[in-house]
Amino acid sequence: MNVSLTTQILAANEAAVTLAARSLAEGGLVAFPTETVYGLGADATNPQAIARLYQAKGRPAFNPLIAHVSDLGAAERIANLNAQAIALAEAFWPGPLTLVLPKTSDCAVAGLATAGLDTIAIRVPAHAIAREILRAFGGPVVAPSANLSGHVSPTTAAHVQSDLAGRIDLIVDGGPVAVGVESTIVGCFGEVVLLRPGGLPRGEIERVLGRELAQPPGDADSGSGQPLAPGMLASHYAPRTKVRLNACNVEPGEALLAFGPVAVSGVDAATSVLNLSARGDLNEAAANLFGYLRVLDTKGAHTIAVMPVPHHGLGEAINDRLRRAAVARE
Ligand code: TXA
Ligand code: MG
Repeated sequence: MNVSLTTQILAANEAAVTLAARSLAEGGLVAFPTETVYGLGADATNPQAIARLYQAKGRPAFNPLIAHVSDLGAAERIANLNAQAIALAEAFWPGPLTLVLPKTSDCAVAGLATAGLDTIAIRVPAHAIAREILRAFGGPVVAPSANLSGHVSPTTAAHVQSDLAGRIDLIVDGGPVAVGVESTIVGCFGEVVLLRPGGLPRGEIERVLGRELAQPPGDADSGSGQPLAPGMLASHYAPRTKVRLNACNVEPGEALLAFGPVAVSGVDAATSVLNLSARGDLNEAAANLFGYLRVLDTKGAHTIAVMPVPHHGLGEAINDRLRRAAVARE
């Protein structure tokens, strides 16, 4: 891999948006903020650009990408939306919801981006800069999270820089993101199924559907059969340091990732302590999650002990990412 590219970093403004759109049109790789995490964008119709993207991230090409589009009309040009998909799109786009849908027969998105599947993952991001880049570019942009494959997703431009400098063309710095965990992924090819918990809580989706979301047939983590969200490997979102979940004490040499009032013993022995949300707010905790994991990963602790996080609202996505971070080092 050529890692000698000069990666330009620009503050998010009109000139940066214009340059981002031009770079995408020329087959460039552009990192930009979305409301969930920073994405690494490439022209969804350009197989060479997509091949570069997989290479820059060190991502296996059998793990398909999300196509980002500017509105429902643009989604309908590349995918077939049934009544439930349209209801969800109308309720939650723009926003942190990805729909996996059957591709249209003349879908312009390169087969490499969808790993040869006959479905495609699509979302309309809510972040103003992401929307302006999509509008200026004028076509679908595939964008995985802008981190090295298997690493924690980036919630600031500095995170992107530390993973991908020298490997991509441009980083548009729009400051820290608002949500902090990736989009919720729902499959709408038959019964509506939850493929990945994320920035849109399950309960809000179920309210619009008028019933509970189905679980995918077979466990996407089990490695048995074809996972429905192929990227949902058990070990993902991993810091280098070992992660210990549901900690009710801190062992010497451990760092503590706290949530709410710190009611654990041994805190004084912790190498460092960060609290996802001292007031127990799950939205604040989601926004802090990946950044705090990155910080604690640099503190020389042998383990990051994590206090329990309640499972409702964004807690489902937070616990999903924490579980993957822990599995990676078991
Ligand atoms: O919030 C987000 O979704 C961020 C921002 C940048 O938009 N993007 C993101 O992309 O998280 P990525 O590539 O890190 O995760 C996309 C997930 C992967 O687990 C992938 O396997 C799954 O979506 N996926 C993509 N296409 C799919 C398909 N046709 N069927 C099932 N899963 C799919
Ligand atoms: Mg990712």
